[in-house]
Amino acid sequence: MTSTPETAAGAGAGDASSPWPLPSLRRSGSATQLVVDGAPFLVRGGELGNSSAERTHLAEHWDKLRSLGLNTLVAPVCWDVVEPVEGQFDWSTVDELVEDAAAHGMRLVLLWFGTWKNSMSCYAPGWVKSDVERFPRCRTSSGQALEILTPFSAANRDADARAFAALMGHLRESDERRTVVLVQVENEIGMIPEARDHSAEAETAFDGPVPAELVGYVEDHRGGLAPELADVWEPEVSRRGGSWVEVLGEGPSTDEIFMAWHFARYVQAVVEAGKAQLDLPMYANAALIRPGALPGQYPSAGPLPHLVDVWRAGAPALDFIAPDIYFPNFAEWAGRYARTGDPLFVPEALRSTDAAANALYAYGAHSAIGFSPFGIESIEGDAATLLAAANDVVRQLTPLMTAHAGDGSMTGLLPPTDDQRTPHRVRLGEVVLEASYEREAAPSLADGVINEVGDRSTDTRRLPAGAVVIRTGPDDLVLGGIGVTVTFSPVRPGSEHVGVLSCEEGRYDDGVWTHRRWLNGDETHQGRHLRLEPGRVSLQRVRLYRYR
Ligand code: DGJ
Repeated sequence: MTSTPETAAGAGAGDASSPWPLPSLRRSGSATQLVVDGAPFLVRGGELGNSSAERTHLAEHWDKLRSLGLNTLVAPVCWDVVEPVEGQFDWSTVDELVEDAAAHGMRLVLLWFGTWKNSMSCYAPGWVKSDVERFPRCRTSSGQALEILTPFSAANRDADARAFAALMGHLRESDERRTVVLVQVENEIGMIPEARDHSAEAETAFDGPVPAELVGYVEDHRGGLAPELADVWEPEVSRRGGSWVEVLGEGPSTDEIFMAWHFARYVQAVVEAGKAQLDLPMYANAALIRPGALPGQYPSAGPLPHLVDVWRAGAPALDFIAPDIYFPNFAEWAGRYARTGDPLFVPEALRSTDAAANALYAYGAHSAIGFSPFGIESIEGDAATLLAAANDVVRQLTPLMTAHAGDGSMTGLLPPTDDQRTPHRVRLGEVVLEASYEREAAPSLADGVINEVGDRSTDTRRLPAGAVVIRTGPDDLVLGGIGVTVTFSPVRPGSEHVGVLSCEEGRYDDGVWTHRRWLNGDETHQGRHLRLEPGRVSLQRVRLYRYR
């Protein structure tokens, strides 16, 4: 079967090896967009399970992946598989994946499972793992060796960088169509079970001075640092220079910052080597912090928002950092990453029924460049149905969402807390939206309501609720979502009220609205509100008016 990958424009100028332009990142107002084939591109992604990307296994899943409305697969490339013998590369798994993705009309985000995968070094080739003298390990404070390659070794770094550069060089030559649009470097980097490495090389570095590049970066960015870093960085001491403990004090936070710097430096070398071959946008992803956990109890020093400055200083070639959001407080984590100023891309998310609502929220509230539930080939039941419906809405709204990204005329709605009771007030231009979320099945919500009691693996026991809202004119809004009721009020309280002039349901095809039905009676509570009903993702347009 052959399909054409989605593009919004024809090919522009490419690099010498391809007539197709290289995917890139471009600023648009306060947002950053991923540009593919010369046009803004939203990744409607799904990340494959770690061992699901080989042709023989993936063959039976393509129909399902397409039926989910994905335009991009997020899939690993494993160092041990592509470089089984030092310097000898076998690209067959990569070539098959790129070929099959293109044949099914999908783009790819490739995950470089290199030195680190979820903290460990399980994807390092056997010739690396078994030569512990040449490729040294991290150690605990009691001297125990870990199955984690130390970032304090130039041999480790250079071996990874060479392999990654070979991958990018291979893609430059083989992926002429630019099926690969983004590359993740390593996977969920982070030190466990302690906050930092205690190998001999690490101890020497820890006793040495804080590197001048990091001191300089912090001094140059005072006032704009992540609050957690600003709180611990002593300006007086740092200007004089000093050891990590002198500048930052003793404790897990110092250990984490020290480790983050060295992880970032290592990643910088890998990214630079790769980009020298093919300059695709590159990011690093993070496992997030369990409530109450300390560095080392969670993977310490990864690309986390409180460490963004350290990562930026240490790895300036990296384009952004990204969260893997499995926790229920999706809005909070998405917001923390968005506040760093990086584009929001969620390479991994829980494949629950909430994924549909979380996706719409991420695109709306943060002009996300993509959202991708993990283990996508295994998604089933209501979670799959709702994700496909959300992806359909995102596909329909892509021209609007990319046109409004970063200009203040788009937002997202998601319950700020799990048990949100009071209306959630969100300002959008000259109108305030007051959202209520229908998270529990009420007896009155008879038909079409998902009770979420079937599949325990995807069962959040709460109805999904969330939406994207775009202000397309002074009094015109487009809303796509599920389980949200919205009333409207003016920004300045007074005698003026905001009413619903008319509301309709429909769909966009190639940017053109097709009306399906008016919703001006019971469905809007006789004009009092707009309701995206629970259990079904829908798309509505509303025209507002003001009265006294
Ligand atoms: C996060 C990792 O990044 C993925 O590769 C996978 O291991 C998932 N966790 C499993 O939940």
